[in-house]
Parts: sequence; C-alpha cells; structure tokens
Amino acid sequence: MGSQAISKQATELYDSYEESASSQAEGSGWTNYDNCDFYEKITVAGMRYFAETVGLASGCDLKNIVPFWQSANTILEIGAGYGRVISYLRANRFGKKITAIERSKALFRSLQKKFDNFDDSITLQHGDIHNSREITEKYDVIFMLWSGIADFPPIEQRELICNLRKKLNVGGKLILDTLPEDVTPTNMQASETERVFKQIFNNSTVYTYSMTINEIDLIAKHARFHSVEHLSYYTDTNKQRMLHVLS
Ligand SMILES: C[S@@+](CC[C@H](N)C(=O)[O-])C[C@H]1O[C@@H](n2cnc3c(N)ncnc32)[C@H](O)[C@@H]1O
Repeated sequence: MGSQAISKQATELYDSYEESASSQAEGSGWTNYDNCDFYEKITVAGMRYFAETVGLASGCDLKNIVPFWQSANTILEIGAGYGRVISYLRANRFGKKITAIERSKALFRSLQKKFDNFDDSITLQHGDIHNSREITEKYDVIFMLWSGIADFPPIEQRELICNLRKKLNVGGKLILDTLPEDVTPTNMQASETERVFKQIFNNSTVYTYSMTINEIDLIAKHARFHSVEHLSYYTDTNKQRMLHVLS
C-alpha cells in the first residue's frame, strides 16, 4: 500500500474516531469542569492516600522514564495535584526548570506552601489548561501523569493533546499515563458509558475516560507527532499502567 493510501486510511480512521468522540461527549454528558469540585475537596492527605493505594506515591512512574526527562531543560506539568511529581524530580537531582499548572485552589495553595520557598527553578501557576493559549513558553517535556488525561472526556482530550503539541520545543515530548483498556481504575466504578468511570468522594463526583492505545495513536498522528512509544509498567502495589511518549 502506498503512503498516500496509508494516510487516507489514517484520516478516515481519525474521522470515525472524531464522530464517536463527539457522540460520547453528548451521550455521557460530563466535562472536565464537572471534576473541579472533587479536586477542591479532596485534601492533600486524601490525594496522597489515593497515590499510595494505586502504588504511585514513590514516583515509580517517573523512575520508568528517566531517560525522557533527565536531559530536559524545561518541564511543564499539567495538573500538579499535591506535588508528587515535582517532589520526585527534585529528590532525583532534576535541577532545571519545572513549571506546574494546577486548577484546584485548595491544591494550588498547598503547592505554594510546599514549593514557594524553593529557588526560582520551580514556577507554580494557578490556572486551567483549557486556556493553554495563555502559555507563552515552550517546553522540552510536558507531563500529564497519574491518569491526568483521563480527567477529560474524549472530545477535550483530542483538543488538549493538539494544543499541547504546540507548546513543545523541537524534539520535545508529551508524556501521558493511562490504564490498560481492560482495567477498572482503583476506587472507581464503571458507568453506563464504555470506558467512563466515576468516583464519589465528599459528595463530589469525579469522572474519567480511559483512552485506548488506538485513540492515542490516532490523536498523535492528527496532532502531527512523529512517533509514539507505549510502555507498560507495574506500580508499587502491583497494578499495571501505561506510559505513552509522544514525540
Ligand atoms: C489525577 S491528579 C494528578 C496529579 C499529578 N499530576 C500526579 O501525577 O501526582 C489530576 C490533577 O489535575 C488537576 N486538573 C484537572 N483538570 C485540570 C485543568 N483543566 N487544568 C489544570 N489542572 C487540572 C486536578 O485538580 C488534579 O490535581
């Protein structure tokens, strides 16, 4: 098959993914904004507890991808939570620039308390990644770890990945963490929509959508990434997860 035929086939596949992403969003009826309340109420202790349950508290995800971030000069983390990733990077001799965006006011305040007295290599931004146009710099590595991308429904995931691609330096990498397709996220329950899960905590609901490898490949192609590596790994509590490196 010639390259023209391959790219036509990829476009057709992406179009059919796009249609199903739109109908998913309509059908499931949630957006990333619906998760705001959950992250305002969760508390740092609650989040750390969940990180321990899923086996990510130690930063074993980052340990699996050292070569991808070790030589970066600038890292952007989307949704920094309680500072798990920043703490790991600093504890493991990453001394270059880290910028972290977090939308939750409560979590952002705790990040400020924890990191504001550090040197100016850490920049904290209270903001919503939907407004990624406001990001003026470009980065060597962008992280969305611990299922950060799953906090968005398919239609928003697609837009976000395309927008983040534009925030990478030449040769930069977007690194996403997801769960394998057949795994129900820890502490969550399945909904009536395929691969949409929910969890109720303190009367707030968080919704997630588990992307498939195929969806990641199609979006990466559409966003003009050159390559995608899918890495499977096990957390400290022996739970299987996936890291995807989009270059
Ligand atoms: C699952 S946690 C991951 C935390 C952290 N990245 C880690 O790996 O430990 C997702 C984080 O993303 C934040 N978040 C969700 N939607 C966001 C948005 N639209 N803009 C910025 N942050 C967001 C949440 O408040 C939460 O802190």
